[in-house]
Amino acid sequence: MGILDRHKVLEKNATLLLVASFAVVTVGGIVEIAPLFYLENTIEDVEGMRPYSPLELAGRDIYIREGCYVCHSQMIRPMRDEVERYGHYSLAAESMYDHPFQWGSKRTGPDLARVGGRYSDEWHVDHMTDPQSVVPESVMPKYGFLLDRELDGQYIGELMSTHALVGVPYDEEMIASAQADFAVQVDPFGDTDGLLTRYPGAQVRNFDGQDALTEMDALIAYMQMLGTLVDFSTFTPDASR
Ligand code: HEC
Repeated sequence: MGILDRHKVLEKNATLLLVASFAVVTVGGIVEIAPLFYLENTIEDVEGMRPYSPLELAGRDIYIREGCYVCHSQMIRPMRDEVERYGHYSLAAESMYDHPFQWGSKRTGPDLARVGGRYSDEWHVDHMTDPQSVVPESVMPKYGFLLDRELDGQYIGELMSTHALVGVPYDEEMIASAQADFAVQVDPFGDTDGLLTRYPGAQVRNFDGQDALTEMDALIAYMQMLGTLVDFSTFTPDASR
């Protein structure tokens, strides 16, 4: 009996085929999944990653509320065309404080994982207000209303507590100073020592150029931070894993 004839036996008996398929899938599953239980951590520690500042976190919430992830990804794959266009491929650690993660699944617009520092704040305000004014062929909707919506960070401490509940290391001090840290990040003349100790490298300035603290400030603070926390001029992947 040739091998094809022997396989025919399996193909003609539904029960046998089912049992055999199950056996194959089980072995495959164990081989793929079991090793993960023996890794201490699937995310390597990377210098520079820190929980988002209260203002950045609020901006991230607006990003989610407005569905920016529907058109934008935040994950650069390790392929040449992507790395040349967007920069170093994304590390798992760069999404470690994202609940939920913002990898996205569709790119109607470009990947935003490293958009921080690529444009000026003024560019972002113009682009958000009227994308076609800076990129004529853009299909991105207008978000100018964010300039009119003021924020006072009243509930930002609660939001941070919720993130702490799912593992983001916001401590009591961070939560207690949440509203003050929130407001001082847009005030270049404020006392930012506490903010910068708790969130090293946080960018402090009036992001939207208006007197009021608005949703536009929060969203731009979030975007200008994206991809800037890890210093890739000194980063070397840990090859021991
Ligand atoms: C309907 C799809 C769509 C949605 C929703 C959308 N965008 Fe865009 N976005 C685009 C497209 C297309 C471009 C490229 C053209 C341009 O620059 O406007 C773009 C470009 C951008 C850029 C410039 C990126 C670069 O590297 O040049 C930023 C920043 C941006 N979007 C942020 C946002 C934010 C923040 C939101 C949510 C408030 C959002 N987008 C919602 C489609 C979208």
